[in-house]
Amino acid sequence: MKEEKLDKNNLMEKIVSLCKRRGFVFQGSEIYGGFAGTYDWGSLGVALKRNITDTWNKAMQDHPNMTFLDSSIFTSGKVWEASGHVSGFSDPLIVCNKCKEKSRADHLLENIGIKADEKLSELEINKIFNESRNKIKCPGCGAKDFGKVHASNLLATSNLGMLDENEQQVYLRGETAQGIYINYKNVLDTGFVSIPFGIAQIGKAFRNEISPRQFLFRKREFEQMEMQYFCNPNEAMDNYEIWKKERMEYYQMLGINPKKLRFKPHENLVFYAKAACDIEYEFPFGWNELEGIHYRGDYDLTQHQKFSGVDMKFCDEETKEKYIPHIVETSVGVDRTVLMVLCDAYCEDKIGESERVVLKFPPKLAPIVCAVSPLLKNKPELISKAKDVFDVLKAEFGRVAWDDNGNIGKRYRRQDEIGTPYCIVVDFDTLADNTVTVRDRDTGEQERIKVENLKSYIKEKIQ
Ligand code: GAP
Repeated sequence: MKEEKLDKNNLMEKIVSLCKRRGFVFQGSEIYGGFAGTYDWGSLGVALKRNITDTWNKAMQDHPNMTFLDSSIFTSGKVWEASGHVSGFSDPLIVCNKCKEKSRADHLLENIGIKADEKLSELEINKIFNESRNKIKCPGCGAKDFGKVHASNLLATSNLGMLDENEQQVYLRGETAQGIYINYKNVLDTGFVSIPFGIAQIGKAFRNEISPRQFLFRKREFEQMEMQYFCNPNEAMDNYEIWKKERMEYYQMLGINPKKLRFKPHENLVFYAKAACDIEYEFPFGWNELEGIHYRGDYDLTQHQKFSGVDMKFCDEETKEKYIPHIVETSVGVDRTVLMVLCDAYCEDKIGESERVVLKFPPKLAPIVCAVSPLLKNKPELISKAKDVFDVLKAEFGRVAWDDNGNIGKRYRRQDEIGTPYCIVVDFDTLADNTVTVRDRDTGEQERIKVENLKSYIKEKIQ
């Protein structure tokens, strides 16, 4: 088996096309020409996403003192005033005077090799942009004719429950974290936890991204896996280091290429943050943020205490000390993780003389664990035996496919393309000795395994 060197330039196009062709991900509202920044998940995409969220939940569950939450997407508008999102959650928008295309000024600067932090003020980014105006081209029409840079708020507004114009503006949540902060007291008051403890949550978030791009990387509707760890201020920095280590180990446990993962400390910390870094992955379009790990001090709870009037202090029963807990946050997008897993798994190679595309998913993440086929489609005795094998495996693993379409070679290619680690074929020998062939996706090698040993064979391989 010979692995071909991948051309990074059109790798994203190949992945997008495979995702559509095989039913992982479809463009949102495609029959109406598409709706930017949205994607719909097909059957294999749903399974891949579920396997990822399951591993995240398991990793969180394994950490001491973890609780879980599912908070509403809609909240009181005051939540987003308290959090600072209404006044300060924005991207630098620039509009082309010729074709009216909207772009992010920091991205256009990046295109000509100038790094502009996304957290710069409107004034600062205008200054940097003006210095290079004559070098910057509109990605839409190529003109070098732009207006001024404006801060464009990322919160998506809604009119849910708005009865008249005097009522407070309602937003779709821009992150799941705020739902955790506003429930911190509720969770503490249940009496099951004490400081330190964590609240973990998976859920949708919405952002008015100016230029959603790179497929699942930057969407307008996406899902986050966020965890907030509430701790004593004296222990917060240690917890930050523990979470950094745990989160990097999580990606290695998933089977992601460690050479494509790295920590990147934040250069400009927001005023309330004590420490922050990203875990970056080397996507085909370069190193980019996968997950953020932030030591946020007591900023969030202090803000909600101020705006809601509710006392957010924790009272230590033993020491009688009273304080607002400090928070360590880990935050990663499900969609971005799926994209990383797809990029990490995508391979083009040759088995013998035959070229193929293969998704080498770690078996625990593969949407389908194994596919079962009768060697020939027109032999009832083979079909009947293969159905028996299929039923047993399906009952055990769930993620099992029946595949009798086309010849065996075509079935293997199709299963390779969706990343199925094992293909099981029932042939005439099966009828004589109750063994089947099991083909390994990565090597193409085949073994004969006794039907009664299949369940334990597969179980051992996918752990
Ligand atoms: N609560 C902190 C927070 O939301 P963030 O850096 O804005 O921080 C955290 O987002 C993670 O959410 C990112 O590292 C990324 O994985 C994911 N994410 C953010 N914006 C996204 C978008 N527009 N599309 C897809 N994923 C996104």
